[in-house]
Amino acid sequence: MKITFTDTAKSEIVGFLIDEGGKLPEAAEALDKESGGLLSEARTAGRFTGKEGQQAFVVLPKGASAKRALLVGAGKPKGRNDRSLERIGGTIFKAQGNSGFKSLCLYVDDADTAARIALGVKLAAYRFDDYRTKLKDEDKPSLNAVSLVTGDTKAARSAFKPLSAGADGTYLARDLVNMPPNDLYPGSYAEKIETLAEHGLEIEILGEKDLKKLGMNSMLGVGQGSVKESKLAIMRWNGGKKGDAPVALVGKGVCFDTGGISLKPGAGMEDMRGDMGGSAAVVGAMLALATRKAKANVVGLVGLVENMPDGDAIRPGDILKSASGQTIEVQNTDAEGRLVLCDVLWYTQETYKPTAIVDLATLTGAIVIGLGHHHAGLFTNDDGLADALTSAGLAEGERVWRLPLGPEYDRQLKSKFADMRNIGGRAAGSITAAQFLKRFIQDGQTWAHLDIAGVAWVEGEKAPTDPSWASGFGPRLLDRWIADNYES
Ligand code: BES
Ligand code: MN
Ligand code: ZN
Repeated sequence: MKITFTDTAKSEIVGFLIDEGGKLPEAAEALDKESGGLLSEARTAGRFTGKEGQQAFVVLPKGASAKRALLVGAGKPKGRNDRSLERIGGTIFKAQGNSGFKSLCLYVDDADTAARIALGVKLAAYRFDDYRTKLKDEDKPSLNAVSLVTGDTKAARSAFKPLSAGADGTYLARDLVNMPPNDLYPGSYAEKIETLAEHGLEIEILGEKDLKKLGMNSMLGVGQGSVKESKLAIMRWNGGKKGDAPVALVGKGVCFDTGGISLKPGAGMEDMRGDMGGSAAVVGAMLALATRKAKANVVGLVGLVENMPDGDAIRPGDILKSASGQTIEVQNTDAEGRLVLCDVLWYTQETYKPTAIVDLATLTGAIVIGLGHHHAGLFTNDDGLADALTSAGLAEGERVWRLPLGPEYDRQLKSKFADMRNIGGRAAGSITAAQFLKRFIQDGQTWAHLDIAGVAWVEGEKAPTDPSWASGFGPRLLDRWIADNYES
C-alpha cells in the first residue's frame, strides 16, 4: 500500500469527509457540479447522515475527472479523536480495498488529521497471504495507492512519519505472531531478528552453550524437550546520549507452547503459535524505534524457546537453578513463560543496569478471563511507570489496566523443596505469575510486566484496523512510551 500526501486529487476514487449532519465540503463542489449534482444528492440519499462508519459510493458520469466519488461519514466533530480517525481510515480501506479500483484519494484539511487517517488505512491494509497458493484475483486487494489531499502536505508528511514507523512495528509483530511454528522456531526467529541490523540495530544472538555459561538453567529447562536450540536475541538501538543507561524491553518468545509434560488439551492448541507475542511486541518496537531514529538508548531482549513434551523434557517436580541463583520447583511445565522470563530479566539487569524494564508476555489464561480482549494486564512496582504506560496505551489505542501486587499473593509461590514453585494455585493466576517475575527484579529496579495473553490475537469481532488474527499489540504502545518519556 502506497500512502502519499498531495495537494491535488488524481485518483479513480475521490473521497470527502462528511460531518454528521454537515454539508458537502467546499472541495467537493467542483465534482458535484461536473456530475450535475450527484454528490449533493448522495449526501442526503437513503440513510446517509455522515455518521461515522457510513459511506456513500457515487458513480460519476463519463467524462468526469474521476470514476467514483465517495462520501465518508466522519461523525460529529466533537467526538472525533485519534482513534475515530484511525477507524475512519480503516473503514475506507475495508470497504474499498477489494472494490477493483486501484487508487483513492481523500480530502482532509488538517495535517494531523490526515496523518491519523493514513495510519488507519495502513493498519487496515495489512495482509498475511504468504501461505496461500490459491488466492483468487478477486480476493486480493485492488487498492494499492491512497493519497490524502491536504493543504499542508509537508506538515502531514512529517506527522505521518513516526506513525508509519509505529505501524511498521505492528506489521512485523503481526507477521511473527501469524507465522506457523514449523517456520518460526527459535533458530529461524533469531535469523529474522539478525536481518534487522539493516535498520541500524545492533544484534547479538546467544545459543545454548552461552546460556549454560550464564547459568540460565530455568530458560534452558523449558527448551530442553525440544529438538530446536533455544536462543536469546538481543537488539540494541543507541539513539540517545552515549553512556546513558538504556531502557530495556523484554519479551516472552515461546515459539510454540504445547504445555510440555503438563500437556495442554488438544482443542485450540494451534493458537499457541502466538505464544511468542511478547517477543514480537519487543521486536516490532525495536524496528519502530530504529525506523523513526528515536533519540533514546533502548535494548530489547527476547527469550526464544519451544515448549515440547519429550523423553528429555522437564518434569513436574524438577528443581531448576535460575541465573539469579534462586531455585524453582516446577510443578506445572505449562507455566513456562515465567521460567524463560526470570532468567532473561536477571541477565538484563546484570548486563545493562537499565533505567526501566518493561516485559511483555502472553503469560496467563487468567488474564483473558479477567480483562478479556480489550486491555493488557499491567503489573508494576512504580506508580509513575504505571501512569506513563497507561497514558501511552490510551494515546495509541493499545490499552493496559493495572492490577495489584502484594506479599499475600507472593506467599502462594511457597515450595516444600525449593525457593519457590512456578505456580501459585487457582486464585489470582495472573497476579501470582507477576509475583513470580518480581522475585527476579533487583531492589530499586523500576519494572513493569504486561500480560498480553488476551490482546495479542483476537478471534471474532475486530476493528477495521485489526484485520488479521494477530493484532500486533505492543510496538506502538512501547514506541509512544519511549517517545513521551525518554526523548526530549
Ligand atoms: N501461554 C500460556 C498462557 C496463554 C493462555 C496465553 C491462553 C494465551 C492464551 C501459558 O504458558 C500458560 O500455559 N499458562 C498457564 C499457567 C498455569 C499452568 C499456572 C495457564 O494460564 O493456564
Ligand atoms: Mn504454557
Ligand atoms: Zn506459554
